[in-house]
This record gives sequence, structure tokens and C-alpha cells, in this order.
Amino acid sequence: MLVKDKVCIIAGAASLRSIGYATAEMFVEHGAKVVVTDLGMDEQVLEKIKTSIEGSLQRSIVIHGVHCDISKREECDALVEKVLALHGTVDCLVNSAGIVQSQPILEISEKDLDLMFAINLKGAFFLCQSVLKVFVEKRSGSIVNVASLAAQRGGGLVGGSHYAASKGGMLSMTKSIAREFGALGIRANAICPAMIQTPMLDGLSEDRLRGIIDAIPLKRTGTTREMAGACLFLASELSGFVTGATIDVNGGTHIH
Ligand SMILES: NC(=O)c1ccc[n+]([C@@H]2O[C@H](COP(=O)([O-])OP(=O)(O)OC[C@H]3O[C@@H](n4cnc5c(N)ncnc54)[C@H](O)[C@@H]3O)[C@@H](O)[C@H]2O)c1
Repeated sequence: MLVKDKVCIIAGAASLRSIGYATAEMFVEHGAKVVVTDLGMDEQVLEKIKTSIEGSLQRSIVIHGVHCDISKREECDALVEKVLALHGTVDCLVNSAGIVQSQPILEISEKDLDLMFAINLKGAFFLCQSVLKVFVEKRSGSIVNVASLAAQRGGGLVGGSHYAASKGGMLSMTKSIAREFGALGIRANAICPAMIQTPMLDGLSEDRLRGIIDAIPLKRTGTTREMAGACLFLASELSGFVTGATIDVNGGTHIH
């Protein structure tokens, strides 16, 4: 029980195939009070998530869901208000919400650029600001931002340059939060995944996928549970002295 009774907001969890969902499942398994949030969250989606976790854990669980468009500051604040009303506090944010697009740089319109930054960067910023207001008062808290290998290598195996830039901004923001709030006992870390089996890989052709896997030292794609494990480590006291870090979950694709 690595996060027993910790109130954890997990953003980007609407799909049962997502990193956010797997993280929610693992956090519930480890005793957390989980609130899942997503642009696509509603009663039906929440029920689907609850049923799936109960099936995996073979017991009944309590989980809450809140609809939130993270690109809107007032919705992020409202999300945190709802979590405070439900549980009285927030201990951890895992932000795994995001979008990907993969067009070449000269084909990226201003509209695409604005959308990418509005969700992946400004959205992450707003969510962090909303939970930080609580963390500052209680002088503790942990933020886990899900960035991407694309931020490290310049363009992703899937995402384009605007995606890479949005995730690069997320890495810089995470390090800044770690530096600014460390003295208050607040930690912020990022994870850079690559080739995790989620809907984000659905657009890749068989050939392209095989070519990419050939170049991965571990010779396979990653599972959402393997990502969830990294999130759990960063959320829990196992990583108590880790802040401002970037953890790679990429099968060795990018070795520094
Ligand atoms: N799957 C991979 O290999 C991979 C690689 C690198 C980075 N990532 C990152 O991991 C994170 C999770 O992605 P995933 O692979 O689980 O895919 P996913 O598409 O299942 O999850 C992303 C979720 O974010 C939600 N979302 C999008 N816009 C939103 C908004 N404005 N407000 C709230 N929620 C919003 C979507 O509805 C979706 O449920 C993303 O940030 C992605 O960039 C994934």
C-alpha cells in the first residue's frame, strides 16, 4: 500500500487503454483515494472505469470522476474544489492528459499550434497551479507530469515538432516547480514515455511499428502498467528525495 489514503487526481484517464487509467487502477490497488478526470469523463465512463478496476482487483472500490477541460483555468480550479469537497485535501496530481499530432513542421497551422499548446502546455500549467494552491497551504504534495520522449530527442516517434515543444515546455515547467516549491516540501517530477500501448499508437502502420520496435533495445512496446509503476514511484514516499527529475520509460530507446 504505497499511497494509502492519499488523495490523488489522475488526469487523462477516460480510456481503459490509457496510461491514466492504468495509473488509477494501480493507485487504487495501493490504497489511494482516486479522482479520475478527463475531457471525456461522464457517469458512463466513470462506471466503466469502476467496473474494470473492480474486475481486476476482485473487490468493490470507491472512485470519483470529474469532467474537466484542462485547457480552461476555471475548470482546473473547479476540479480541485470538487476534490476538496469530496476528500478535504489533495496529495498528488498525475497529469497524463494530452493530445498528439504528427504533421511536418511546415504543415502545422497556427490553429494546430494553439490547440497543442493550449492542452499540453497551458493545460498542464493550469492543473499544476490549481493543485499547488492546496499544496502550499499544507506544505506537501507531489506532482507527476507525463511528458514524452519527443521533448528529449526533438520530435517524437509519433508526435510532431509542436507536440515535442509542448512537452519540452512541460519538462521546464516541472523543473521550475521543483525549484520554486522544494523548500515547502512539495515535489514535482516528469516522466518521458515512448511507445506505450495506448490509443496514441493506433495511427501507426504495421510496418512503421515494426521498424520502431526493431530500434528499441528491449525489442517491444511498453505497457500502461509499466508507466503506472513509474507514476506510483514518483507519487509515493519511495521517491521522497526525488524532485525535478525526468524518468525515462522508453525500453532504452533514448539512453543519455
Ligand atoms: N502512449 C505513448 O506511447 C506516449 C508516448 C509519449 C507520451 N505520451 C503521453 O502520455 C499521456 C497519456 O497518453 P495515452 O497514451 O494514455 O493516450 P490517451 O489518448 O488514451 O490519453 C490522453 C487523454 O487525455 C485526454 N485529454 C485530451 N485533451 C484534454 C483536455 N483538454 N482536458 C482533459 N483531458 C484531455 C483525452 O481525452 C485522453 O483520454 C499523454 O500526455 C501523451 O502525450 C504517451
